[in-house]
Amino acid sequence: MNEKKGKGRLKALLDNMAEGVIVLDARGKITLINKVIEIIFGIREEELLDHPLIEAIRNPELNHFLKEALDTRRVREIELKMVTPVERIFKIRSAFFGEEENDGKWLLVIFNDVTEIRRLEKSRTEFIANVSHELRTPLSSIKGYVETLLEGAVDEKDNSRRFLGIIEENAIRLDRLIGDILELSKMESSSVKISKDFFELKEIAKKAVEMFKPDLKKKKIETEVNIPADFPRIIANKDMLEQVLINLLDNALKFNKEGGKITITAEEQQASLKITVKDTGFGIPAEDQPRIFERFYRVDKGRSRETGGTGLGLSIVKHIIGQHGGTTGVESRLNEGSAFYFTLPRE
Ligand SMILES: Nc1ncnc2c1ncn2[C@@H]1O[C@H](COP(=O)(O)OP(=O)(O)OP(=O)(O)O)[C@@H](O)[C@H]1O
Ligand SMILES: [Mg+2]
Repeated sequence: MNEKKGKGRLKALLDNMAEGVIVLDARGKITLINKVIEIIFGIREEELLDHPLIEAIRNPELNHFLKEALDTRRVREIELKMVTPVERIFKIRSAFFGEEENDGKWLLVIFNDVTEIRRLEKSRTEFIANVSHELRTPLSSIKGYVETLLEGAVDEKDNSRRFLGIIEENAIRLDRLIGDILELSKMESSSVKISKDFFELKEIAKKAVEMFKPDLKKKKIETEVNIPADFPRIIANKDMLEQVLINLLDNALKFNKEGGKITITAEEQQASLKITVKDTGFGIPAEDQPRIFERFYRVDKGRSRETGGTGLGLSIVKHIIGQHGGTTGVESRLNEGSAFYFTLPRE
């Protein structure tokens, strides 16, 4: 009776742990599985008691690891990628406990889900690799032209002017790139609540379009702003939202054809406000669409380089909108154009 009570309490305790726990007897048969393991692997303790673990979790590597742990009776640790139904990475630790003369020996196996930690580590490494790569390109161009100038080109009037122009261009690009990266990391690390303003969408839409007037004119692109007169006022950080529109307009212009069109539309939906920036440009291949909001992702590296893009604009858009509790997305057809939209929850 008492033992049963004790086991019940132990089970309740284990069920409330964040880690998965399995206890095997010295023969490798299951004597206990906690809730987390049941949920992750979609199994039930009652059905598996006294069965070998391999029947519950069919993973040869895990099986091998446990066999070794049972044989050597030492503390073991391993990191395994397992398909649970979804793929997850676990840090698994096993240890022997109990005494031969009393209750016998048991193997305690603890599963720690490190999927998210590993994912973040990977994305950080990738980010650093990308940043270094992006910084290096303009920098090596600057270095190259400075060297050429020093080697004598400085005395050739026409060339030296042209080279200095290229150096300046690359310096500007570097400056902008660093600015974007700082902005992004500031946004991503800030846990402080963003301050919100109460304003008309029209106001910032007009301002953003105004900024691009010279380039719009140069490329003969027509703009249209469709915001209903009774469109609700927006509650959001005004500067950030203006940045979103600027980034979307910048793309709609940059990846547009000469004589094209850009349309900004605002619609009221049941639970949100939807704002769309549509262009009549090159469009985005279907296979690239899921990735364009990633940092540094560019569809056509050649063309984007030419237009000076770093591939950060959309990741900033996504981040800002995410911070406001909204969503972002794109619909696009190759050679016809793209429609980038974002939503903001109605408050
Ligand atoms: N309106 C659009 N039409 C076609 N392709 C687009 C459009 N907007 C974005 N893209 C594609 O998505 C990529 C990522 O866009 P994003 O704004 O993040 O970067 P970028 O414009 O290249 O650089 P940045 O915005 O940092 O100056 C672009 O390089 C381009 O290939
Ligand atoms: Mg952009």
